[in-house]
Amino acid sequence: VAESELLRHHGDSDVRPGLVDLAVNVRTDTPPPWLLEVLRNSLTGLAKYPDPTAARLAVAQRHGRDPDEVLLTSGAAEAFVLLARALGARHVSVIHPQFTEPEAAARAAGLAVHRTVLSWPFRLANAQVPDESDLVFVGNPTNPTSAGHSTKEVLALARPGRTLVVDEAFADCVPGEPFSLAGRADVPGLVVLRSLTKTWGLAGLRCGYLLAEPAVVQRLSAAQPLWPVSSPALDACVACSAPGAVAEAELAAVSLSANRSYFLDELTKISGVEVVPAPVASFLLMQHSGGPGLRARLAERGFAVRRGDTFPGLGDDWIRIAVRRPSVSQAFCGALAESL
Ligand SMILES: Cc1ncc(COP(=O)(O)O)c(C=O)c1O
Repeated sequence: VAESELLRHHGDSDVRPGLVDLAVNVRTDTPPPWLLEVLRNSLTGLAKYPDPTAARLAVAQRHGRDPDEVLLTSGAAEAFVLLARALGARHVSVIHPQFTEPEAAARAAGLAVHRTVLSWPFRLANAQVPDESDLVFVGNPTNPTSAGHSTKEVLALARPGRTLVVDEAFADCVPGEPFSLAGRADVPGLVVLRSLTKTWGLAGLRCGYLLAEPAVVQRLSAAQPLWPVSSPALDACVACSAPGAVAEAELAAVSLSANRSYFLDELTKISGVEVVPAPVASFLLMQHSGGPGLRARLAERGFAVRRGDTFPGLGDDWIRIAVRRPSVSQAFCGALAESL
């Protein structure tokens, strides 16, 4: 399989009908009913072209930024493509293991990519990024390692003349968002990406945004097609930026932390399993002694997990698993122990 194809592999391809899905990290029981209502109401306005003004303002207020520092995108995925194509970058660095689309987008734009590959326990402190890199991608919290890097560690990657892109697609699954740089308008070259996909269960709607200095927003915006974000997605941005929704996400983050601690404790009891320590996101990454056939054996027992080998820096003795309710995690641990 070509490497470019592996980079384009995502958790949804690891799921099969009838399996409990621990491969995709979208929060379960989402979108909530009130959000579905917002989307249903949005349909009556579909005859009009979308107007992003209200959504830009809502997102700006949610993060304490100016509307001209906000660019709404068709998911974080569109932002990777815009950044790769529109900034005239010459030397791209991607800090791996991480979500592979930034690298895929850079390569598709004809850019050479330097990989900075972290090793266990995947902390940023020792990351060696070439000084000449003018476009750097880092995920925080990082998919698939679940590592949360301090704002100080992330900001240490900023340089004059460099665009530092921090993918915060999972930032709102950490209570209080201690790792987020979304509110920082004072760091030249900083671009923060956010997504509504995971927390709100809107993978199919395609809505996300980036926060950056106005000149960068203008440049990226000029590279977008006309009307890139649909009116239902814009309405979702407004609704999910409201204080009540942010508070709901915070409660979900608190409950996720408890579920994750339970899962981590249970997994740690299983011999032949090493879980990456100090996870902060909605998934865990583990190395196992079950060989390349482990995923098939887990599938026989009803569970789909995300393969690890398509992430640069990991191999086929790694899997990523979503954190769900304790009863699901417990059942999974039983299946894993048997499969090993
Ligand atoms: C770390 C990370 N960033 C971005 C994305 C893409 O998000 P979106 O659905 O907003 O394009 C994903 C989806 O899997 C992800 O895991």
